[in-house]
Amino acid sequence: MSIRIRKPWDMLRESEATPEHLFFNRRGLIKAAAAGAAFVLAGCDGEDSAADTGRKPTAQSGATEAPPDPSAGRYPAKRNDGFAIDRPLTDEQWASTYNNFYEFGTHKQIWATADRLKTRPWTVTIDGMVAKPATYAIDDLFAKMDFEERLYRHRCVEAWSMAVPWTGFPLSRLLALVEPLSSAKYVRMETFNDPEMAPGQRQSLYPWPYVEGLTIEEAANDLAFMVTGVYGKPAAPQFGAPLRLALPWKYGFKSIKSIVRITLTDQRPVTFWQDLGPDEYGFWANVNPQVPHPRWSQAFERVLGSDERRPTLLFNGYGEMVAGLYKGLEREPLYM
Ligand code: MTE
Repeated sequence: MSIRIRKPWDMLRESEATPEHLFFNRRGLIKAAAAGAAFVLAGCDGEDSAADTGRKPTAQSGATEAPPDPSAGRYPAKRNDGFAIDRPLTDEQWASTYNNFYEFGTHKQIWATADRLKTRPWTVTIDGMVAKPATYAIDDLFAKMDFEERLYRHRCVEAWSMAVPWTGFPLSRLLALVEPLSSAKYVRMETFNDPEMAPGQRQSLYPWPYVEGLTIEEAANDLAFMVTGVYGKPAAPQFGAPLRLALPWKYGFKSIKSIVRITLTDQRPVTFWQDLGPDEYGFWANVNPQVPHPRWSQAFERVLGSDERRPTLLFNGYGEMVAGLYKGLEREPLYM
């Protein structure tokens, strides 16, 4: 039996969240968070996870079962050996039962409720500064893409990490479909907004929908990957089906889930977490062990599904592929 010492920000459950009318604006909320409310990336050190409660999910739990998916026949996709990793893959049972997806709650057992996520029909609109804006039905979009499998590290700002076999296609191939204009400087991405389907979106404390962004140069980098599946099958809802992003050199909150809109723009997007806590979360969020978050040292990471603590690497170990993106930007807050 283990004794869990609860942190102040762990104490408040969704149902007990401070009513909106007590706050005048989001700045007020940030101050409330500093005083112990629980809406920032919170139970993030995973103490309320299956792992820590000793309730290891079983194959029978259904936690890893994806719903029937028209693209299922495309799996497993051929592995691209150019993306090998230096550590064992995280057990699927752990990766699929320890998730962040605030649309379905602030806890980690997202698998238990995310089956409400209806992934068909699903459309993705790509618009803004592009020559050929379009709205694609998800399976028509998938049909245009070659799928491949890549082994990626994933490092959450909450100081846990995993290693996962994602399936999908490079973001650059997706953007090529719509022909970005030279005036486009940023790619803004948005998750669905459907409070009926996703109970977390009834929490008006949060600036829904979830928004993330990256520069055009980052989007063109070969590591920027659109994920359709994981562990050799279509992504289960808790992973952000039917289409999410993976940016392994950045903290996990940049890897936006269940995307419905991608907009090319010349304005730097204000992201979901940045909007909530600009002193804690920035636009760039590149992994750096030497730059602590106000609540989490980033020097080490807890390896999901084990007792191992590993030293965290600059750019999560992907510096060779991405460090060049940040030349000349040293004055920017690149590591928050
Ligand atoms: N995307 C959306 N739409 N909503 C979220 O709450 N959480 C982010 C990111 N993408 C989140 C999201 C965070 S904080 C992390 S660490 C990763 O998803 C978690 O991905 P995983 O659950 O597949 O491990």
